Amino acid sequence: MSRQGKPFAANEPVLLIDKKERRHYTILEPGKTTNFRGDYLPHDEIIGQMDGVNIYSQRKQRFRVFRPTLDEQVRLMPRGAQVIYPKDIAMIIMHADVFPGARVVECGLGSGALTSGLLRAVGSEGQVTSYEIRADFINNARKNLQAFFGETPNHIIKEQDIYERFDDHDADRLLLDVPEPWRAIEQAAPVLRPGAIVCSYSPTILQVKTFVDTLHRLRLFTDIYTFETFLREWKVDSVSVRPELRMVAHTAFLTTARVISPGAAVLPKDVQAGEEEDSSQESENSAENEPEKADRVDS
Ligand SMILES: C[S@@+](CC[C@H](N)C(=O)[O-])C[C@H]1O[C@@H](n2cnc3c(N)ncnc32)[C@H](O)[C@@H]1O
Repeated sequence: MSRQGKPFAANEPVLLIDKKERRHYTILEPGKTTNFRGDYLPHDEIIGQMDGVNIYSQRKQRFRVFRPTLDEQVRLMPRGAQVIYPKDIAMIIMHADVFPGARVVECGLGSGALTSGLLRAVGSEGQVTSYEIRADFINNARKNLQAFFGETPNHIIKEQDIYERFDDHDADRLLLDVPEPWRAIEQAAPVLRPGAIVCSYSPTILQVKTFVDTLHRLRLFTDIYTFETFLREWKVDSVSVRPELRMVAHTAFLTTARVISPGAAVLPKDVQAGEEEDSSQESENSAENEPEKADRVDS
């Protein structure tokens, strides 16, 4: 349930932004104080106040207090495993077409960063099931999700090795963030429904290659599409308007694919009809080799 527009309550995360715009993330606890090098900010002063309020520490230092956005939550919450960053979560939700009411399965709960984006995207009518092999990561992710969302009855966690077994038969979307997604897809492919979309997140292109080769070999997938996203921030000051000097150059590659119906099994490339041969003769640089995914046919 959304907490927007309501006073701050115990056990929810807040951002404390000081005069130098430094951001401090904390979970509100009755009776607790946050210590800034010997200066104290009691949480009881914040609980019951509204989003955006100014609160003063014992030494009269001013802090603005906000509810973290989903982006800030994902960046600042305690981590067990490495998280997927907001720029990639946004792309996953768009390219895997995660919709309100969807039944989504993710493999690799980790810290719960992607899960947070998924829970928000599917809404209360949808369902997210997360597979995770490590109990300590599950504990950490549960705390993160509880802090940000409160209760999430539409989230199921399975402490299970996805390389061994996958038992969600009616998933609309399958999201993979595990080291060997090709092993996960071997388990999941036979029970994915036609029309379902799979999206895998992998840091190295060797992982992508093995995954895509596996998708082809299974002959149940089409529209296989791989890309990565760069986000370049800009500094916009009075006299200095330029890109920031540093950026995160690489996080991971995303690969999406659609599940076909079993009766329409994809043939291996070498026995497909003439169009395959034609396209193989096109120049590598040809504009016609642009991904077809976004092409529009105007009449
Ligand atoms: C990079 S982390 C996932 C991070 C997560 N997507 C997030 O945004 O917070 C990969 C996770 O996959 C889990 N994992 C690895 N192999 C697994 C397997 N065979 N079955 C289930 N979980 C697995 C790891 O324990 C780890 O938590």
